[in-house]
Parts: sequence; structure tokens; C-alpha cells
Amino acid sequence: MFKGRDIVTIIDLTKEELEVLFEETDSMLKYKGLNLRLLEGKIMAAAFFEPSTRTRFSFETAMLRLGGRVIGFSEPSRTSIAKGETLADTIRMLNAYSDLIVIRHSIEGAAKFAAEIADVPVINAGDGTRHHPTQAMIDLYTIKRNFESFDGLEVGVLGDLKYGRAATSFIYGMSKYPIKHLYLISPPQLKCRNEVIEYLKFTGTSFTEVEKLDDVISELDVLYVTRIQRERLPDPAEYEKIRGSYRVTLNHLKEARDNLIILHPLPRTDELPNEIDSTKHAKYFEQAGYGVPIRMALLKLILVGEEI
Ligand code: NCD
Repeated sequence: MFKGRDIVTIIDLTKEELEVLFEETDSMLKYKGLNLRLLEGKIMAAAFFEPSTRTRFSFETAMLRLGGRVIGFSEPSRTSIAKGETLADTIRMLNAYSDLIVIRHSIEGAAKFAAEIADVPVINAGDGTRHHPTQAMIDLYTIKRNFESFDGLEVGVLGDLKYGRAATSFIYGMSKYPIKHLYLISPPQLKCRNEVIEYLKFTGTSFTEVEKLDDVISELDVLYVTRIQRERLPDPAEYEKIRGSYRVTLNHLKEARDNLIILHPLPRTDELPNEIDSTKHAKYFEQAGYGVPIRMALLKLILVGEEI
């Protein structure tokens, strides 16, 4: 099911496969703090061409917690890439030195390209505006921990749906489950890309695009908030126009359902102010905490399989 497999997008995983991953994650949470040796002798290469805090540290922590080891870089300017080495050659080297490659890159399709070159499994830790499958796994797992099931949930995704790969992967993830409705909430400039809209239609997901959180807050069980992807906007003037165009406030929460959970892949900017943190709805730090057990489970399933 998972052994030896590349993970490029959440679209490729079935609900059943995600269920196996979530069960494995439950076990990893139970073993927290134990000295596991499941990946002893294995080496993970972390190739981070773009900035990262949570994703890189949690992948590395996951590998170390399972007894494996880590090589890699988070500063490509300090590798031969600075001398003009191509992505393909860099991947060939990591393929020769490691048992699995985790890659983050600003170019869409970079992880798929790496997966085609490498014989060892490749995990996409974010490629440009497109996919971030392990973030979606964390998001889905957080929902599963907070609700009995996905059935009938009303879910809102707020923010930069155009350039945000975390939001996009979350939307793809949602399309796998029998939720009641998906609200895509964004300023007009940051609306969901056409290919994602087409995919939602193809999967028969019930959804609406809206501009204001105020219009739907009272309908939601889950609110997934994302920041404006400032570094991906083609024009800095555009950012100045749309910054501050949405923000979750305590006033919104007065209208919210009692059981509403608020998620955010982090980092946040001003769309999710600190005053929300102490409310019962805030689940984004819990969500970030699942980064390690989810990635432990995934690394274990890919490198040794389901059996052990
Ligand atoms: C996200 C990313 O890098 O795509 N961060 C993360 O991995 N948790 C979201 C973002 O940068 O906005």
C-alpha cells in the first residue's frame, strides 16, 4: 500500500489508505517519548529549497524519533546548486546517498520531477502553489480527532485559495469525504484556481464560493484559515491592495457554532490574531503538534510497510 511509494499529492491517496495512515499515527502518539528503532540504519535526505520551520523540523524529528538519520540542506546557496548544479543532478546525488528524499521547492511540479528521477521514494513537502500532501494529512487527522467522523460536516476554507498550496491540498483532501458542504471564502483576487474548482465538480463535492466570512461563519463546523502568500503574488502592489482583506475576529466567534474548530497550517500573519488563541475553537497548535506523529507514521509505512 505505502511501501516504496512516492507521495506527490493528496489526490493520489484513497480514503482507505488515509485510514491506515491515521491508525498508524494513533500508535505513534501512544509511543511518544519511547526510543523507537523502526528506522534504524535508514537515512532521510531533506532537500529544502524554500523556507520552512514546521515541515522540515517535524520531518527531521519524526525520522530521529524512529531511530533513523537525516542529511540535507535548508540553505541551497550553500550547496553546489550555487555553482549551477541542476535540480536533476542534485536529486541524483541524494538518491545515491539516502533511502528517502523529502523535497520542498518553489517550482510547481518539482517533487513530481524528483520522483521521476529518483529510485528511492520522494515525499513532496510543498511545490510552489500546488501541493502539500503531508500538511493535508495533518489537517484531516486533526478533524478526525475532533469529530466522530467527516459525515455531514460543514467546512470553510478562508484566505488565499489561489496561491496557497496548503489550502489547495486541504480542499482536495475534503473532496474525499462525505462532508455536507464546502465554503470557499476569499477576496475575489484570491479565488480558487479553475483546476481545483473543476476537480470539486468532478468529485461531486457540494461547494460555494463566497467573499465574506460573516456570511457563513454560523454554518461552520471547521474553519481552515490561511495567510496571503505574499511571496507568490506576481506583483507586490497587489499585496498592498488585498492585505487585511480578511481577518477572524472575536465578533465572528459570537456567531459561531459551539463545536466550531479553527485550523491554520501556520505561519500566520494578521488574518488570525492572537486573541483567538485562548478560545475553545482554536485548534491550530494541536494541529501543528500532529506534524511529528503523522510524519513518523508516513515514514514508517513507506520505509518498512504496514506489517510491523
Ligand atoms: C505552509 C506552506 O509552506 O505551504 N506552511 C506549512 O508547511 N505549514 C503554509 C504557508 O506557508 O502559508
